[in-house]
Amino acid sequence: MSTASRPAPIRIDDPADPRLHDYVALTDMELRKRAEPEQGLFIAEGEKVIARAVGAGYPMRSLLLSDKWLDLMAPVIERTGAPAYVGTPALLEEVTGFHVHRGALAAMARTPLPDPAALLAAARRIVVLEKVNNHTNIGAIFRSAAALGTDAVLLAPDCADPLYRRSVRVSMGTVFAVPYAKLEPWPQALGLLREHGYRRMALTPAPEAVDLRELRLDPQDKVALFLGSEGDGLSARVMAQCDLRVRIAMAAGVDSLNVAAAAAVACFALM
Ligand SMILES: C[S@@+](CC[C@H](N)C(=O)[O-])C[C@H]1O[C@@H](n2cnc3c(N)ncnc32)[C@H](O)[C@@H]1O
Repeated sequence: MSTASRPAPIRIDDPADPRLHDYVALTDMELRKRAEPEQGLFIAEGEKVIARAVGAGYPMRSLLLSDKWLDLMAPVIERTGAPAYVGTPALLEEVTGFHVHRGALAAMARTPLPDPAALLAAARRIVVLEKVNNHTNIGAIFRSAAALGTDAVLLAPDCADPLYRRSVRVSMGTVFAVPYAKLEPWPQALGLLREHGYRRMALTPAPEAVDLRELRLDPQDKVALFLGSEGDGLSARVMAQCDLRVRIAMAAGVDSLNVAAAAAVACFALM
């Protein structure tokens, strides 16, 4: 591949170089959970996920990679013009705190989230999450939502960040493809769903709920699937705002499905 128009990579030898600030201590979850949204950034890793983030319109602040990934990442470097910092694998590990086996990391700028009312007006099938505060579950739910035709995801303020590194990785970059917004104040803002004509279905393992297999939906129906936290499930006040409780039948002796598994089954069945 020609390197004629590629911005020259910037070689870094000092792990304390301030230009690498975005990548410091990536394994410190508590620090990163606070710092990344405050600084308006998130980290994407690996060629495909980085390309998806760029393709979705997120501006790239910089790339950090080792030499052997330069050619593979050249199209992204050329397209964005962002600085590409190159170091040895040992330097990358010292800066980030882990062995960067996907070869390249990108510091991306966050963009403003869409207005929930605009999403609700344009969508027909949505997923609403309350207190899903585990990044792996959030990533897996977005992956299913993207694969199974969900138009949008709405998040209570206590949900995990879809742009946190683990969510992005587990979602395989689908967090960039499915539009999402935060619903605030919670749960009062749920009134928007009623205003937009959504049938609100609370997913719950409770035995008295309607069996998912018995539901018949018109393709034109606007449907919102609500899913709750791993511990307590949906709160009583959110359940009270839903039109129907729906369960996925399970074998005797099993309490519940993992929330991401439940989302996949329900999206497949209803969306
Ligand atoms: C681990 S479960 C929570 C279990 C909690 N004890 C409860 O009763 O809801 C997490 C979420 O996954 C969904 N879920 C899990 N199993 C389900 C099932 N069999 N049918 C419908 N939804 C289910 C629900 O939305 C639930 O809030």
